[in-house]
Amino acid sequence: MFVKNCWYCAGWDYELSQGKHAILARRIADEPIVLYRKPDGGVVAMEDRCCHRQAALHLGQKEGDSIRCMYHGMKFGPDGKCTEIPGQDHIPEKACVRTYPVVEKDNWIWVWMGDPAKADPSLICFSVGPGDKNWNIKTSQVRVNANYRLEIANLMDLSHLTWVHRNTFGGTDAYTRNKIKHVMTPRGVRSTFWVRGVPAPVFAQHMFPPGALFDLSFDVDMTLPCNFILHFQVWTAGTATDGPSDGQLVLDSYSCQAITPRDADSVDYYYSWGSSVATDGPGMSDMLYEAINAAFLEDREMLEAQHQNIKERTDRKMVDIVHDAGPGKMLWVLEKFLKEEASTQIPIVQAA
Ligand code: FES
Ligand SMILES: [Fe+2]
Repeated sequence: MFVKNCWYCAGWDYELSQGKHAILARRIADEPIVLYRKPDGGVVAMEDRCCHRQAALHLGQKEGDSIRCMYHGMKFGPDGKCTEIPGQDHIPEKACVRTYPVVEKDNWIWVWMGDPAKADPSLICFSVGPGDKNWNIKTSQVRVNANYRLEIANLMDLSHLTWVHRNTFGGTDAYTRNKIKHVMTPRGVRSTFWVRGVPAPVFAQHMFPPGALFDLSFDVDMTLPCNFILHFQVWTAGTATDGPSDGQLVLDSYSCQAITPRDADSVDYYYSWGSSVATDGPGMSDMLYEAINAAFLEDREMLEAQHQNIKERTDRKMVDIVHDAGPGKMLWVLEKFLKEEASTQIPIVQAA
């Protein structure tokens, strides 16, 4: 089950060039989507399913601002209307493919999967993209064969940094004793916490003298469907036990992560990390990039195995612990939106 009235990330803007063969096939919320860029630079998102015999349009070819199905040659404009049927003059009214609203923002491509009349771009989450001149952001992506609810639970409970990421981010068990402040937002949860007087994350410990300690600030903005925006700051350990650190700021960074459910069993994970220009140094953003790439493989291994276990034994009762508070809040938001949509029918608007 997926919330449809929602902006879903379809990838990074650089994945979709003006090239002749630059056609992206995605699966978003269990629907096949084809994306291509028009000569004017705009992006088209269409159901990846020809209205004739359901051939995949991503196997087609771009022609101007149109796409041609390469099974029997029907051509569709960017509004999804068929404009040509080779060997037939009459074009039936119903010869069209569903299109979806698209917005590019912060170097991400966003597709609205629900009622087009409700596609409000202001609902796209805040993020810091690689194009932002004040930040040195590096990007990547990974496919994870797990349900997106497991990703929500993973990201809303960062106590797993101690365990899953013991060889990358971890280095302390202080994450298991966090006092996290959760605040509900219109489409998600904002979670903030400090981890004080701890060693640097494992991936950076070699840069500092033994015994060097730091204060870490986490400010997480999580929104539907599964967008995780982390403002992460590192300070030399200060004396403050409450409120902002009174140490010296050594790293100001953003990690922006958009997790798009493909179907019930997999997600496409588009993510970034990078430091502010002001706190960056030679090699720093490259090191962050290497660290997050390694860490997300650790998450992937854990979540894929967990997903298989849950699929095998859906009847098995699970025990809740204190760290489930954050995941519980975000999953509650998800269920609320799912229930609201189930009680209203979403019109599917076809080009007339
Ligand atoms: S299936 Fe596309 S033209 Fe026949
Ligand atoms: Fe993780």
